[in-house]
Amino acid sequence: MITLSKDMETGVKKIDEQHMELVDRINAVTSMGLKSISKEETQKTIDLLGDYIVKHFRDEEELQKQCNYPQFQTHQNLHKQYIAEFQKLKTEFAANGPSPKFTLTLSNSIVGWIVKHIKSADSQFGKYYKEHK
Ligand SMILES: [Fe+2]
Repeated sequence: MITLSKDMETGVKKIDEQHMELVDRINAVTSMGLKSISKEETQKTIDLLGDYIVKHFRDEEELQKQCNYPQFQTHQNLHKQYIAEFQKLKTEFAANGPSPKFTLTLSNSIVGWIVKHIKSADSQFGKYYKEHK
């Protein structure tokens, strides 16, 4: 389970609200390891998160373009890399189905990346946005 700590707030209302939704969907994925659920349900939970990651990245990039964020390209590349990583895990799931090991790998990947990304890249953008919006 992850929660949004104070140092994960970017100060940009739209982004912080979406991060809350993102965290909810991440927690739905990480808690899958505790229950035995069907492949369909697991798939649905992963897709709900995957779709939201794509939407959130798109909205964040839109805001960055609007205020001519100088780090836009770098930030967008980070998003692209993570989407590719997530896609790789989805392919693995499609091939092997649910397992506690898979849930753990997926959870570690998401939690590790998202927390770090929010604390570094997103907070950096938050600071810029407040000064340039
Ligand atoms: Fe981001």
